[in-house]
Amino acid sequence: MSAPQKLYEGKAKIVYTTDDPEILLAYFKDDATAFNAQKRGTIQGKGEINNTISTHLFKLLEAEGVPTHFIDTVAPNEMRVKRVKIVPIEVIVRNIAAGSLCKQTGIAVGTVLEPTLVEYCYKNDELGDPLLTGDRLFLLKLATPEQLDEIKTLSLKINQVLSEFFDKCGITLVDFKLEFGYTSEGQLVLADEISPDTCRLWNKGETDPNLRVMDKDRFRHDLGNVESAYQQVLERVLAQTKMS
Ligand code: C5P
Repeated sequence: MSAPQKLYEGKAKIVYTTDDPEILLAYFKDDATAFNAQKRGTIQGKGEINNTISTHLFKLLEAEGVPTHFIDTVAPNEMRVKRVKIVPIEVIVRNIAAGSLCKQTGIAVGTVLEPTLVEYCYKNDELGDPLLTGDRLFLLKLATPEQLDEIKTLSLKINQVLSEFFDKCGITLVDFKLEFGYTSEGQLVLADEISPDTCRLWNKGETDPNLRVMDKDRFRHDLGNVESAYQQVLERVLAQTKMS
């Protein structure tokens, strides 16, 4: 048995090797960053909450036929995942206008987007994860047109499954970020995590723009009650999972 080696440390997770070269261990941290790591902090208990929420959502997606990197959860903060080669694209799926879309286009926050908007950013911290055009994406050889097509189709399917699930939790799935990777067998799978760090989640029926926020925007914009919002999402996800 060889000791696990730290393979990579990101803003919210540490990835370790395991005895099996095809399996990695993802450790979810309480550290929080925003605005390309210009703002840093800690959200107490976030690692455990995000690991648990991601576990339930990966299981749900797998059951609905979406392949993911998830294998199993081995500790409160740890899940085992398949080793994949990450596609250096952040896929942003938007159902309702918020965040950078509103800042960059002037569209009013809360505008329903029909059809759902799928955008791609270059996963590159040094460059600040810039928004890509399709042609730039192909110029940089980040994906072939066929691969991008598969990524978009899978992203929309994920949106459909997650939107329905969150709706049953009394939560509106405003937007979210996805990352994909290829397994050693060449299969495209959903990677990274799905949590209040990577999704905008609004309390359904709450119209106050500050009170409705149940996600990392509470940390980004100093809205307070960050931990309790994450906890509330966890409790609703667990309750809904038990019922379905
Ligand atoms: O900031 P922006 O409006 O582009 O973010 C869209 C969605 O993607 C939000 O849910 C945000 O939390 C998520 N996101 C992320 N990681 C990034 C950029 C955005 O999880 N690096």
